[in-house]
Amino acid sequence: MATQKKLIHEQWSSRTAFILAATGSAVGLGNIWKFPYITGENGGGTFVLIYLCCVALIGIPIMIAEIMLGRRGKQSPINTMAALAREEGRHPGWKYLGWMGVIAGFLILSYYSVIAGWALAYVFRTGSGLFLGATADGVNSIFNDFVGDPEKLLLWHTLFMVMTMVVVARGVKNGLETAVTFLMPMLFVLLLVVVIYAMSTGYFYQGLEFLFTPGKITGKAILIAMGHAFFTLSLGMGAIMVYGSYLTKDHSIVQASIVIALADTLVALLAGMAIFPVVFANGLQPGAGPGLIFQTLPIAFGHMPGGTLVGVMFFTLLVFAAWTSAISLIEPAVAWLVENRGHSRVYASVVMGIMTWLVGLGTIFSFNIWKDVTWSIPFLFKNYRFFDTLDYLTANIMLPLGGLFIALFAGWIMHKTSSSDELATTAGIYKTWRFLVRYVAPVAVIIVFLKAVGAV
Ligand code: TRP
Repeated sequence: MATQKKLIHEQWSSRTAFILAATGSAVGLGNIWKFPYITGENGGGTFVLIYLCCVALIGIPIMIAEIMLGRRGKQSPINTMAALAREEGRHPGWKYLGWMGVIAGFLILSYYSVIAGWALAYVFRTGSGLFLGATADGVNSIFNDFVGDPEKLLLWHTLFMVMTMVVVARGVKNGLETAVTFLMPMLFVLLLVVVIYAMSTGYFYQGLEFLFTPGKITGKAILIAMGHAFFTLSLGMGAIMVYGSYLTKDHSIVQASIVIALADTLVALLAGMAIFPVVFANGLQPGAGPGLIFQTLPIAFGHMPGGTLVGVMFFTLLVFAAWTSAISLIEPAVAWLVENRGHSRVYASVVMGIMTWLVGLGTIFSFNIWKDVTWSIPFLFKNYRFFDTLDYLTANIMLPLGGLFIALFAGWIMHKTSSSDELATTAGIYKTWRFLVRYVAPVAVIIVFLKAVGAV
């Protein structure tokens, strides 16, 4: 098989291009859709605090490790792991880490695309003036009617999948760089506009209080906070690794990782500040679940001056943010098909796109015809639908597990000479990173796992 391998020669045109692409991958539905609703479901302050600690102590060191492995291996994650294990004289089984990542990315994209489809639909709904002067109840019933209709969800899911696979087929670089250069800063500005509106609701303080005042927390909520740190930074499945493989040698990985993590965190916190004041001002429930932003932001757009335009732009930019993330979820799989099977990028994209689209049907039905089909796994979850199950298994189990093994590989398996050569940073920073990736990150992930099943 090794003889058939085709190297992916693409390279980012600059360090900025890499940072933008990686930020494009990190900033997505996770920040604006998922972070607020899981914060709402898990009680606010303490959850946010744990998430921030996980980003700093686990996320950043693992991001550095992932980019480093990618740049050193220069191939799709599966082949990178195999090549690095060989180079370091270690067991070839490390390539299964790459495999787990490919499967996780594929499963995440299947539901990610469905939710991105909601955002796409909301561009047009907002544009039609549907939400002008709307009440909380009105917005709520519009949302419930929407997700109750499998055909509508199917249409938007299909459209988003096609959009994603078109970019992937053309190669990650073409188009992606420009998209991220202009659209990410614009999303940021629009988010600020909504935050300013949120300040005018008279409930801004309540919003902040909810986000930042510590309260009670459960083992399961800690697991969700940690899982989200991986999810929001695109870690643990090879997405950032494959982007790192297109990075040239002369750039600082440590600096880039910190910039990416800061930008990502800022967007999530702003989203929280935009949404929770609207939640409290309208007597809504913070724990409303996956529909939260679709049940709150339209109220804001329906009432602020110029709200229709702001709303259309906001949802459009959210779609772009989701788009630049979705690409990175499937890139490891496509890169592998190109390298090992000799397929063209176009063929590989079509095949992966169709498979992902099919699994996405399960998520669509979770909100309507399979709404009552639920199951439970002792110690892990109770009465989860298809969508919740996928989300739980990928974000809370597979990503942290992938991250754990990435940390172990970078910290213990790879020789010190290799990692210090690749990171080429100051002795102090290198030592700190190595300590975090050898001890802090692995131990933290294991403790959180044990805590979640009630063993600690
Ligand atoms: N980070 C993205 C978001 O927050 C989602 C994402 C893109 C992702 N690539 C990933 C999550 C890889 C996990 C792994 O929306």
